[in-house]
Amino acid sequence: MSNRQSIYEIKDLSLNNEDLILNETVFHNANGYIGVRSNFEEGYPEGFDSIRGSYINGFYDIAQMKQAEKLYGFVEEKQTMLNVVDSQSIYLFLDDEPFNMFEGTVMESSRWLNMSEGYTARRVVWRSPKGKEVEIIIKRMTSFYQLSLFTIEYSVKALNFEGNITFKSNHIGEVMNYCNPEDPRVAGESFRHLFPHSAKIIEDASFIVTHTSKSGLAVCTGVKNCLSKTGVMDVCIEEHKAICTIESNIVCNETITLTKYTVFSDSIREQDCEQKAMEEMDCALSLSLEEHYKKQREYLTDYWNQTSLEIEGDDELSLAVRYNLYQLIQSVGKDEHSNIAAKGLSGEGYEGHFFWDTEMYIQPFFTLTNPKIAKNLIEYRYSILEEARENARIMGHKKGALYPWRTINGKECSGYFPAGTAQYHINGDIAYSIVQYYLATKDMDFIAGKAGEIIFETARLWIDVGNYVNDEFHINGVTGPDEYTCMVNNNYYTNSSAKNHLNWAAKFYHLLDEFNLLKPVADKIDLSQSEIEEFKMAAEKMFLPYDEKLKINPQDDSFLQKKMWDIKNTPKEKFPLLLNYHPLHLYRYQVCKQADTVLAHFIFEDDEKIETIRNSFLYYEKVTTHDSSLSTCIYSIVASKLGMEEKAYDYFGDSAKLDLFNTHHNTKDGIHTANMGGNYMAVVYGFAGLRLKESGLFLSPSLPKKWSGYQFKVTFEQSQIKIEVTEDMCIVTLVSGDEKVIHVYGREYHLKDTISIERI
Ligand code: BGC
Repeated sequence: MSNRQSIYEIKDLSLNNEDLILNETVFHNANGYIGVRSNFEEGYPEGFDSIRGSYINGFYDIAQMKQAEKLYGFVEEKQTMLNVVDSQSIYLFLDDEPFNMFEGTVMESSRWLNMSEGYTARRVVWRSPKGKEVEIIIKRMTSFYQLSLFTIEYSVKALNFEGNITFKSNHIGEVMNYCNPEDPRVAGESFRHLFPHSAKIIEDASFIVTHTSKSGLAVCTGVKNCLSKTGVMDVCIEEHKAICTIESNIVCNETITLTKYTVFSDSIREQDCEQKAMEEMDCALSLSLEEHYKKQREYLTDYWNQTSLEIEGDDELSLAVRYNLYQLIQSVGKDEHSNIAAKGLSGEGYEGHFFWDTEMYIQPFFTLTNPKIAKNLIEYRYSILEEARENARIMGHKKGALYPWRTINGKECSGYFPAGTAQYHINGDIAYSIVQYYLATKDMDFIAGKAGEIIFETARLWIDVGNYVNDEFHINGVTGPDEYTCMVNNNYYTNSSAKNHLNWAAKFYHLLDEFNLLKPVADKIDLSQSEIEEFKMAAEKMFLPYDEKLKINPQDDSFLQKKMWDIKNTPKEKFPLLLNYHPLHLYRYQVCKQADTVLAHFIFEDDEKIETIRNSFLYYEKVTTHDSSLSTCIYSIVASKLGMEEKAYDYFGDSAKLDLFNTHHNTKDGIHTANMGGNYMAVVYGFAGLRLKESGLFLSPSLPKKWSGYQFKVTFEQSQIKIEVTEDMCIVTLVSGDEKVIHVYGREYHLKDTISIERI
């Protein structure tokens, strides 16, 4: 990978509040277990808005969810991801002058993210009010090798003076979450979630344990500061805050470095999280920082090698795509206690909740490049299957399981059920992701165990929720992906998804039977052949709305009867509509927040004729605002399928740049992980036309006009395959593993080493 594709840099840092708070997200460090926002170590002036946070994937407290009316089954409590510690604070003093970019003179400054080495850095050349000049370089890393570890390497070079240098490095356990009462997408109330339990110092390292207010969880963080030169160190504890002061002297042209190690441990994963933090600290200190950096580099070399997505001809977009893929590996949970939150570990938007974003937008990337991680994500769903069963009972279903719309620990956290719990398609989405995983890996043992249990239990729900009308299976009173149209009958996406789900449940049943693997799972959940017949019948008779006049699939039974929203004449400042119009008002219009039927046309493309897909695409394009970040990537994929090259590229660009260019104006609250995964899909499923089907792996590559080529690798049935697309050719290489049969532009090829096919 070239440097131009692996470093994202900003020079001459703006000290404007809006830019700073945005860059806290853009330059955050995370590794799937922990995430630390990129706050200035020295803090900001009074009155500055900053979200100072460090998070653990899946670690939460319970907060009240106030409901004005106490109706049956309404959610009254939610989980919220916690800011667990502030170990970022480091104050530097040159004699008696504190370093601070808002005073004195900033002579040079820059900030960068190195995506092949896995760190972020800030460099400042600064003159103090009294004229002392220093070069400061601060490098931060969350280790992929030791997931509990966050490091800050803080180097100071004296450029024109000699004197005293003091670091004051804090470790604060009593921290709060950010709150913004104005925005429903961020927690609206300020509440104390963490309470100090103990704080101690062992060999100059501080260990602070805090307990959550209601979830009964504990977290321990350990901090140790090391100076590159002999100095006088004092570590003390004041009211559950550990303060480490180190003093030394510095001469002109000398560089002194403070290395600060923070380790995290929590009671979800460990019985004794304090003991574990101490072990993790020992482990962190057993390697030099250089060795930690080396391991980080090695991890990322493997990661990029497995993905290998490179684009030639458009540097800006190529960097944006690279950035998006980097964020996916930073955000994805690496164990069954966690998943991938809508904002990853970069901020508090959506409170660290896991949505369908995982299965439909992010998991496809891991399924194709790192099936082990994809499997983990499914394991997480299995770990909350019992809660999904309970959720189904709450919602009045006698059998089956209904996954919550948003959650951390498996319990529903959606306060507004019409745009939350009613999105029953989440069951079909989880099933779809399992089928894709199966098609990519043929991991039958997994289907015979956890994955099968999920598929069957969630399939049962469709039978309970739907009913026959004139010999057609209808699903009423649900919400599709588009959150500007709620509580409808026969949402096309939901019905297609349920049909696919029920068909696959039946297929897996027969496959397991054939392989003699059926009994354990069937016995466990009391699944019978007659239930499978019900599944097949409902799938066959599933009603999929079609409008003869427009020759499109209506989004639901009533969508086409509504007034049209005048998107063109809606003032810019009124978007996103959800922040400016009452939901009920929006529901009475034909206006979509995001891809809904168009998404179904992508994932279930064989269900409809290409003309219907084209007509639908053109119709929905006019009524979609793309107020959700999950939308333009899907429009790009379907535009590619329909041969609308320019549109595909424009939609792709919108999606690729979303966070780096803050186009939705809310990146300060966190990155948009679903959009990032969707952006990958726009290249691989969109431009390259990749599909995983029962009949194998399909490709149909096109090349956007601006590009001179692109390439990527996928793992298909344990073989690694590289696809290179140039102006005239599509070259497919078997990198490792067994020979495979693949399909390119509809023709079958036997892939033994390399095949070169002329591009159509
Ligand atoms: C979208 C949902 C999505 C959620 C979290 C909402 O704005 O409408 O589809 O799951 O954000 O990303």
